[in-house]
Amino acid sequence: MTVDPFAPHALHALHTTPGIAAAATDLTKVYGSGDTQVVALDRVGIGFREGEFTAIMGPSGCGKSTLMHCAAGLESPSSGSVRIGTTELGTLDDRQLTQLRRDRIGFIFQAFNLLPTLTALENITLPLTIAGRRPDQQWLDRVISMVGLSQRLDHRPAQLSGGQQQRVAVARALASRPAIIFGDEPTGNLDSRAGAEVLGFLRDSVRELGQTVVMVTHDPVAAGYADRVVFLSDGRLADEMTRPTPDRVLDRMKALDPRSRTS
Ligand SMILES: Nc1ncnc2c1ncn2[C@@H]1O[C@H](COP(=O)(O)OP(=O)(O)O)[C@@H](O)[C@H]1O
Ligand SMILES: [Mg+2]
Repeated sequence: MTVDPFAPHALHALHTTPGIAAAATDLTKVYGSGDTQVVALDRVGIGFREGEFTAIMGPSGCGKSTLMHCAAGLESPSSGSVRIGTTELGTLDDRQLTQLRRDRIGFIFQAFNLLPTLTALENITLPLTIAGRRPDQQWLDRVISMVGLSQRLDHRPAQLSGGQQQRVAVARALASRPAIIFGDEPTGNLDSRAGAEVLGFLRDSVRELGQTVVMVTHDPVAAGYADRVVFLSDGRLADEMTRPTPDRVLDRMKALDPRSRTS
């Protein structure tokens, strides 16, 4: 018999399952109290396999960003636990958590968040510079050539298009060869052509470099680049799909969110 480590009854087994880059168990996040209390996440259990590209989808306000922020150690859960590799985030103090985020997690945001006074190359290597780590030059060369930035390393962000800036951000996220990369609507500010490029690079980083990527998106086309789509609804895991296509994702979204039905 094969055991599916992602089945709810097997969640405790996640802690001993190899090949899991990150996992959340019974993750609950409550904002505010009393009348203004919001349950943003309600006992979510989820694992992200190494070398897999996962898209997180769901209607606005369903908890996608909260899940990503808790899984990445940017916010602490109200209850439940998160681990990156075999490290339980709840056991770390602030300094250790900052270090773990810096060394083992890559981030890509909707707003590219590049430093305007630094060149593309300086932006890409900034997290390593801050950590006092010497870049693995071979790895860095691969990453830079994969995202097609070799000719633009001396440019500052203002001299680059939005798509090029987000490629710098992708390279920056990959530079430290993190255990997992989280992106919150990484193509939200890009036109469809630039968005497709960035999604292609994220997929290449999974296929060719073996990276693990988790991306929040509301775009079925973007989700079509992933290996797996996880659907959230009202802070709960509502559904899951493997080998998604944009059409199948759209159908599932309509079924899960009656508001998105137009007729
Ligand atoms: N810092 C916060 N304080 C209070 N409520 C919050 C905060 N962040 C998010 N929320 C609420 O939690 C719910 C989930 O938000 P979020 O994770 O941002 O959703 P999504 O990313 O899916 O749009 C929403 O109802 C939102 O208003
Ligand atoms: Mg969000």
